[in-house]
Amino acid sequence: MSSIFIGTDTDGTRQELLLNRANRHGLIAGATGTGKTVTLQILSEGFSNAGVPVFCVDVKGDLSGISQSGSKTHKLHEKLISRAEKIGLADYDYKAFPTIFWDLYGEGGHPVRTTITEMGPTLLSRLMDLSNVQEGVMAIAFDVAEDNNWPLLDLKDLKAALTFVSENRKNLIYEYGNISAQSVGAIIRNLLVLERDGADEFFGEPALKLSDIMRSDMSGNGIISVLAADQLINHPRLYSTFLLWLLSELFEELPEIGDPDKPILAFFFDEAHLLFDEAPKALVEKIEQVARLIRSKGVSIFFVTQNPTDIPDSVLGQVGNRIQHALRAYTPKEQKAVRLSARGFRPNPAFKTEDVITDLGVGEALVSVLDVKGRPQIVGQTLIRPPSSRLGPATGAERKTVISRSPVGSQYDETIDRKSAYEVLTTKRKKIADAKAAEEEKLAKQKAAQEKAKAAREKAKAKTRSKAKTRAPAKRRGRKRQSAWETGTKQAARTIGTQLGRQIVRGILGGLKRW
Ligand SMILES: Nc1ncnc2c1ncn2[C@@H]1O[C@H](COP(=O)(O)OP(=O)(O)OP(=O)(O)O)[C@@H](O)[C@H]1O
Ligand SMILES: [Mg+2]
Repeated sequence: MSSIFIGTDTDGTRQELLLNRANRHGLIAGATGTGKTVTLQILSEGFSNAGVPVFCVDVKGDLSGISQSGSKTHKLHEKLISRAEKIGLADYDYKAFPTIFWDLYGEGGHPVRTTITEMGPTLLSRLMDLSNVQEGVMAIAFDVAEDNNWPLLDLKDLKAALTFVSENRKNLIYEYGNISAQSVGAIIRNLLVLERDGADEFFGEPALKLSDIMRSDMSGNGIISVLAADQLINHPRLYSTFLLWLLSELFEELPEIGDPDKPILAFFFDEAHLLFDEAPKALVEKIEQVARLIRSKGVSIFFVTQNPTDIPDSVLGQVGNRIQHALRAYTPKEQKAVRLSARGFRPNPAFKTEDVITDLGVGEALVSVLDVKGRPQIVGQTLIRPPSSRLGPATGAERKTVISRSPVGSQYDETIDRKSAYEVLTTKRKKIADAKAAEEEKLAKQKAAQEKAKAAREKAKAKTRSKAKTRAPAKRRGRKRQSAWETGTKQAARTIGTQLGRQIVRGILGGLKRW
């Protein structure tokens, strides 16, 4: 199979996504309820059938139905059949697709984790919305941890490393550069916010192995990884940073393969606008760069969003395959979005793109995919095919069954907390505290012994004195009285000495201040 059937145009043209052009990425856009998720579903099915593993995000839970077969008893069965007939999908039937459920919170699927080190200082800083100066301090904490071989796995490791940096900043400054105490304080406060968002469950081990989202089943079908994101979406920064991390991991780990016959992974990025909301220019550039370069590693990215204008032009420029569901055009802003979206298509002489966008029915879209030569085809008004898997969510029980039969087994289900920065630094702190306590105890003992000895001496003295009183008074001993001249000279010498001393001290302090 070298293409995925998307649907059929009003003029009877079949729209097929060419697998060897799928790495030129895609866009699925449209207002709410227009059919984006079902389009994502049928494309995922197509990739899976072609042996391409899929990673997709399930924002509302309705994509989980991909793990279940469609059914004659489904309330939309008749409609689905008649749609299939209408578009000439002769071999339409129902089937379930091999699925692995994942969940950052570990509830609706296997927990997905990564380590702080793997996330890296740049993405973490983005996640915590840090300033440039704070990002610099974060990078220092990473360097210090690396130089000391302290693994940074979870949030408590990071907190321990930052606290160490803060406490030792006076010494570290020479080697690592400026570290402001306020910045460390601000980062630690931000860490608490992250913890509150549940990010502490996301950081740790066992970390997600990319090979586990790039699996095929025994029959060679690509396994569809569905990330439950219903909770995650409430923490947009964590959501977008996680997906960005996953993309960068893929980008770093996968070898260069040029233009493959079919992608090695299809990646669907739902609510993609979250990635770009308030994103600094540098980050947008980075995403654009990753999107451009990951192509030759065989990864196909589909951005899914309500409004195509949510995605920066530089990133849209990387998108070759477009599926535009209906848009509304009530407000001037919406009308502008319609015009912009229409402009992204190669016009069809049979209709005015701009007019059709607002007229499309549910499950209908403007489609333009790349042809064999990589050129965008003339836009078509396409009725999208119905899914073979269930339209709508899987039940809780069905989800549990899928999870229990998962090919990744239980390897991710328990957190492993191995020795890392937190443990090393806590032990170190304890050792220092113990040594200090031992030293204090030693000093206290010494002092007690000295006091005891002194008391004994005084007791002995008193005894001697009382004995002496009983004897005849002795001749006055000791030094002669000083003459007045002698006293004056010594006094003067002492004064000069003190002044000289003061001058020397002042000189040193003055020097220190200048330094
Ligand atoms: N290709 C299709 N074949 C059959 N029915 C479809 C198709 N696309 C959409 N529908 C119908 O339209 C409904 C809404 O589609 P969908 O859930 O995909 O919209 P959406 O754009 O993802 O909405 P939202 O933005 O709210 O997530 C589906 O539940 C289904 O009944
Ligand atoms: Mg949807």
